[in-house]
Amino acid sequence: MKHSIHTIVISEQQSTCELVKLYLQEFENFTFLAETSDLTKAYNAIKELDKSLVIVDISMYQEQALNFVSKITSEFSDCRVIVLSDKPQVDLVIRAMRIGASDFLSLPLLKDEFFDVLTKHYLDMTGAKPKKSKCRVITVYSNKGGVGKTSIATNLALELAKITKENVALIDLNFQLGDVTTFLDLKPSFNISYMLQNLDKINEDFLLSTLEKYKDTSLYVLADPPYFKQAENVSSRDITKLFNILRDTFSYVVVDTSAGFDDKAINALENSDLIFLVTIVNLPALRNCQRCLELFDKLGLEDERIQILINRYMENDEINADAVEEVLGKNIYWKIPNNYFTMMSAINKGVPVSAVNPDSNVALSYKNLALLVSDSVFRQSAQKRYGRV
Ligand SMILES: Nc1ncnc2c1ncn2[C@@H]1O[C@H](COP(=O)(O)OP(=O)(O)OP(=O)(O)O)[C@@H](O)[C@H]1O
Ligand SMILES: [Mg+2]
Repeated sequence: MKHSIHTIVISEQQSTCELVKLYLQEFENFTFLAETSDLTKAYNAIKELDKSLVIVDISMYQEQALNFVSKITSEFSDCRVIVLSDKPQVDLVIRAMRIGASDFLSLPLLKDEFFDVLTKHYLDMTGAKPKKSKCRVITVYSNKGGVGKTSIATNLALELAKITKENVALIDLNFQLGDVTTFLDLKPSFNISYMLQNLDKINEDFLLSTLEKYKDTSLYVLADPPYFKQAENVSSRDITKLFNILRDTFSYVVVDTSAGFDDKAINALENSDLIFLVTIVNLPALRNCQRCLELFDKLGLEDERIQILINRYMENDEINADAVEEVLGKNIYWKIPNNYFTMMSAINKGVPVSAVNPDSNVALSYKNLALLVSDSVFRQSAQKRYGRV
C-alpha cells in the first residue's frame, strides 16, 4: 500500500513555501496540506492529523518558531519536524535537534539534500525500512564495586531517551548480580541470556517488540539473566554479535558492567564508542582508576574513547578536581554530585532520580550529562555539514 504523509509548511517567506511545495509535488509521498505563517492555525491542523511532517522556517521569528517546534514535538509523537533556517550555525542546529527537530536544513534549500531527508522520513514514518541512525555505544565501567555504575547507566540511558526521543537500549552486563531491573522496577520476560542463545533469530523487529520498554519512553532494557546457570558459556564472539545487532536497532546503547575485568566487560569496552570510567574521590579509588587506565592502554583502547566521570562529588572534598586530573593525567569529563538521600530514595522506590525530584542536583546532573553526550553527536554531524562556527 502506498502511504502519503500530510505535510504542513510554515514560513514567513512566500517564496520558501512555494519552493517546498514544488519539491513536495515532485516527491509524491508527501501530500502538501497547508502553508501558513500562523502558528495557531498550524497547531490546530497538526492536532487533527495522525501522522504529519511539519517543515518550519525559523529564519525570521526564531525564538517563537523554536518554541513552537518544542511544543509540537513534545505533544504529538507522530509529528516529524524539519527546521529550515538561513543561519545554520552549529549551536542553532544543536538547539533545534535538542528540542525535538528531526532535521535541520539551511536555506536556500538544496533539492538533493531535501530529497535525502524526505526519503529518510518517508521510510521511517511508514515502516518501509528500518531507520538507520548512527549508534553510539556507551559503557559505564569501573574496576571497583559500588562507585555508582548502575546509578549512572540507568539514569543516563533514561535521560538520553527523553532528550533525543530516539531508541535507547540499556544493557545489564552484570550477569551475576545485575541491578538494572531493580533500579527501574522491571520484570522483563526476555533477558540477555535468551538473546545470546537466539542470535540468529533476533533482529530490529524482534528486539523492539520483546525488550522491556520503560514506561512511555523510548528506553528499552536488556536485563541480566535471572539464574546464575544462564550466565555460563557466553563467548565474546556472541557478545560482539549482539552489539552489532543492537547497533542496527538503537541510536544509543548504554552498558552497565560489573566491577571485574572479565571477558564480557572487555568485550563491551572494545565495542564502545565512549567509555565512562567512574571513580569517586578518595585515594584507593583513584589508584584503582589509574590502574584501570593502564589496563585500557594495554588493551589498545584509544584515549579519546575514555572519559573520566567523578561520582559523589563534593566541592569541599579534601582532594579537589585539579588534583584528580593531575593524578589521572586526564581531564574530568563530568562530575555527579553526592546526594545520598535522593539516590537511595530512587533506588528504594525503583524509579529514576528524576521521578523522585527532577530539580535535585543529581537529577539535573544526569540530564546535563545526557545533553552533553547527545550534543556531541549533533555537533559532529552539524559540523560535518556546516563546518566550524
Ligand atoms: N551521586 C550519588 N550520591 C550519593 N550516593 C550515590 C550516588 N550515586 C550512587 N550512590 C549510591 O552508591 C551506591 C552504589 O551505587 P550503584 O549500585 O549504582 O554502584 P555500582 O558501581 O553499580 O555497584 P556494583 O559494583 O555493586 O554494581 C548506592 O547505594 C547508591 O545509592
Ligand atoms: Mg552495579
